[in-house]
Order: sequence, then C-alpha cells, then structure tokens
Amino acid sequence: MNLIESSVDGIIAADMKGNIFIFNKGAEALTGYKPEEVIGKIHITQIYPEGIAKEVMRKLRSTEYGGVAKLLPTQFNVVNKAREEIPIHLSAALIYDGSGNEVASVGIFTDLRPRIIMEKKLQETHLQLVGSEKLASLGKLAAGIAHEINNPLGGILIYASLMMEDLTQEDTRRGDLERIVQEASRCKEIVKSLLQFARQTEPKMEPTDINRAITDGLFFLENQALFHNIKIMKKLDPFLPLVRGNGSQLKQVFMNIIVNAAEAMVGNGTLTIITSLGPDRKTVFVEFTDTGEGIPEENLTRIFDPFFTTKDVGKGTGLGLSTSYGIVEDHGGKISVRSKVGEGSTFTIELPVHQTTQPTLERQLVSDAR
Ligand SMILES: Nc1ncnc2c1ncn2[C@@H]1O[C@H](COP(=O)(O)OP(=O)(O)OP(=O)(O)O)[C@@H](O)[C@H]1O
Ligand SMILES: [Mg+2]
Repeated sequence: MNLIESSVDGIIAADMKGNIFIFNKGAEALTGYKPEEVIGKIHITQIYPEGIAKEVMRKLRSTEYGGVAKLLPTQFNVVNKAREEIPIHLSAALIYDGSGNEVASVGIFTDLRPRIIMEKKLQETHLQLVGSEKLASLGKLAAGIAHEINNPLGGILIYASLMMEDLTQEDTRRGDLERIVQEASRCKEIVKSLLQFARQTEPKMEPTDINRAITDGLFFLENQALFHNIKIMKKLDPFLPLVRGNGSQLKQVFMNIIVNAAEAMVGNGTLTIITSLGPDRKTVFVEFTDTGEGIPEENLTRIFDPFFTTKDVGKGTGLGLSTSYGIVEDHGGKISVRSKVGEGSTFTIELPVHQTTQPTLERQLVSDAR
C-alpha cells in the first residue's frame, strides 16, 4: 500500500461497478480531489471526459492494446476537480478473482503536462537555432554577392556620370543617362543594406540617445501622406540612459519599423512607441505596437530574411527588417516580434546601456541641483 501511496504517478482502482477504492497521493495531485472526496463517492466515469471510461474498458478487454486485461500507455485526458481536462498517459490492467471473474480495474496515470511544456520549449529553441543559423548563412551569401556587385556598380555610376558631363544640357540622351545613374544608385542602396545585414560595414559607435533617434526618425515620416490618419502615441522614458550605438543606423532601424507599422495599418490606426529601462538597468527596451493587419504565424520566422516581403512588386524590397536585424545584432541587442492576425504587431528592440555615461536629462537635473 505504501508503494502505491508514495508513487508520483496517479494510481486509481475501481470495482466493476465503477466505485473507486484506491486513490493515491499522485491521483490527488493530478486531479485536485482528496481521497475522502472520491472513495465511495465519485464514479470512475466522472474523472474522464464523457465516453472515455467505456473506451478504456473496451481496450482493456481487447487483445489489441497490450494483451487481454492490459492496456499499454495510451494518451487520454482526465477531468480534474476544476472540470479542466488534463492530458495523461494511462496504463491499466483488469484484476480477476480465483474463478476468473473481473473484479476490478487499476490504472496508472502519468501527468503529461511537464513533458508537453518541455517539448514545446525544445521545439521553440530548435526553431530559434534554425532561424539564427539560416540568417547567418544567408548573411554570408548576401555579403559575398554584395561585394561582387559593388565594384561593377561603382564602374557603372562613374562612367555614366562622366558621359553625362560630356553631354550638352539640351542633349536628349541626358534623360536616359540620368535614369542609369538613378537606378544604379538604387542598386548601391540595396547592396549597402545587404552589407549591413551581413554586418560587413563598421559603423562608429558612440553614446546614443534612443529617444532622440526615435523623434528624429518620426520627424521625417510624420508629414508623409501615409501617416496622416495614424495616431502616434509616444511614451518615452525621459530618464532613459544612453546606449552604445550609431545614431543614424538606429534611426534607420526605427524608421523601417515605423514605416512597416504604417503600411500594416494601411494609413489608419494607432502606433504606440514606448521606451523603458529594463529591471536590471542594463538594457533599454524600445517597443513599437501597431493596430495593423498582423503577421500570420507561418511568416513570423521569415520576416527577418532578406528579400522576404508580402508587398506588391515595386512596393517592398523585403530588406527593411533584415537590415534592421543586422544593425541591432551589431549593437549587441535583440529584436523580436509578437503578433496576432487582425489585431496588430509589436516589435521589441533591446539594446545594452552605454556603461560609462549618464542620460542627458539626468545629468542636467544633477547639475541643476548643484
Ligand atoms: N508591423 C507589421 N505588421 C504586419 N506585417 C509586417 C510588419 N512589419 C513587417 N511585416 C511583414 O514583414 C515583411 C518584411 O518586412 P520588411 O520591412 O523586411 O520588408 P518590406 O516592408 O516588405 O519591404 P522594404 O522594407 O524593403 O520596403 C513585410 O512585407 C510584411 O509582410
Ligand atoms: Mg519595410
């Protein structure tokens, strides 16, 4: 009896009428019922969802699930005291008297919740690993291509510009050449983005005011048509410490995310921007929440890939987020996303605080107080 009582697994035995007569501590932990609430009071069918107790008996009597009178571990749900269903593995046996009549059934119930949680965590870690590996190899590929393209592109730009200088103002070929220069410059921008994603450019790192980078970025965007019907709520922590970073690169990251948000809201909705200092005071958090269309789950692992876009040809290159990813990684930070289709998305950026400097505002307050 002690062995049964002290088992971590739930052990429950019932007679052939379904009256429970053994209900150990494990069963108590699993179901939330105390033995005295169960023994002689609750029918075995009540600890299963409807029809399951019958199915267990049928499987026990059949030869297919581990031999007659036996049931090898099979997944079912049990219903606990709070009427919630809990996934379990059940192994069970029928017990006979001396003349071969069925007298009782006994089941061992293993709670599957810890295992399910662990499996989910493992799967998530695996996905993250695959994701970062994929991005790393994509980065190498991108950097290789970008380097190769950079030189001939430089040539195109220089020679086209030289030719343009030779032409008179009236020359009709001027327009064509201007077009060549324009398009080649666009290619150069793309190459630059790719190099940034692959972290092949070395930006100057200095103490940077994140609130300022956001405000500067917004200044450029706010007056554009896309933003006319978008409400922007700023909750910027005035005591935010500086981060070690490159202001113009971070501004670019914020602008990419803000433009994406506006595009996801099709020019109508609310964008909330929050900056805050993490509880360990070593990390600055920047959060952008939109009320846009959201991102389907199957795309969540792809949006940081270079050239991944759901926008029409000519509207999006799919480089905004991959570039931003590269820049944030370069800053020793992290970028992540949460989203629900139809409700909106939140992009969060974490950046390490600059170790030796104080935030401008705090510094000023301190000097004012002197
Ligand atoms: N806030 C958002 N809400 C919904 N979807 C988003 C959001 N931000 C990004 N996405 C999705 O991620 C994709 C990739 O974004 P990314 O910024 O990298 O490229 P893009 O906006 O399509 O093109 P580009 O930024 O190069 O012009 C988008 O096409 C869109 O599907
Ligand atoms: Mg974009």
